[in-house]
Amino acid sequence: MKKKITDLIKKKNKKKIVSLTAYSKNVASILDNHCDIILVGDSLGSVLYNYKSTREVSLHMMIEHSKSVRMGIKKALMVVDMPHNTYRNSKEALKNAKKIMLKTKCDAVKLEGGKKIYETVKILVKNKIPVMGHLGLLPQSDKTFKFKGKKKLDRDNIIKDAQLLEKAGVFSIVLECIETSLAKFVTQNLKVPTIGIGASKFCDGQILVFDDLIGLNPINYRFVKKYANIRNEISKAVSNYSKDVRKIKFPNKNNSY
Ligand code: KIV
Repeated sequence: MKKKITDLIKKKNKKKIVSLTAYSKNVASILDNHCDIILVGDSLGSVLYNYKSTREVSLHMMIEHSKSVRMGIKKALMVVDMPHNTYRNSKEALKNAKKIMLKTKCDAVKLEGGKKIYETVKILVKNKIPVMGHLGLLPQSDKTFKFKGKKKLDRDNIIKDAQLLEKAGVFSIVLECIETSLAKFVTQNLKVPTIGIGASKFCDGQILVFDDLIGLNPINYRFVKKYANIRNEISKAVSNYSKDVRKIKFPNKNNSY
């Protein structure tokens, strides 16, 4: 059965929310059997295109990848990241969010930031566009990729931003790379669920970049647990294929017409 946003909110304080990123149909169709939320994250810029930052990701790229992902999802909620410079003001955000919703048939969009996007979130929600927030480390605007919540000012801002986003009408908030007790406090003081990435076990759910989880991405991050080493598996398969081709073992009679 197709999951609804209301089902997700009901999970708070009851069941953990499971979420992963996907950038294409085949991966999405596997994740769909296990995840509550599938995010088409703008992390695809660094993961797939080797961009230095997600700031280079375009609306067109997000829409095309999301159209592919949509074909693989039957049950999970599909959320699409609004890329950098597509929500600089409410008017621009509404136009682009409508385009994303229409072209990709996703269930919601995700925007990074707090106070700055308060009015924008309110307008999207008023226009029946469900919004997921994103606080803590903000790859679209942060200069350095360090975890947040060491300094009191940072902590207070994240707490205030989370409250503002909830007031503006988000249905959940991603907390990226924030200190454990801060993640716990924010989670306990919101009605909407928090989804953590590098933000402790105290969030209402967790999200990871799929390529990190399966070990396809060779880089190691502290907040990632690798559940497979898919690079090894691919390497073995390709090595066997290359041996077979060179020894004229592939294709054999069964693979031929
Ligand atoms: O772009 C992305 O994949 C994300 C997740 C890391 C939350 O925003």
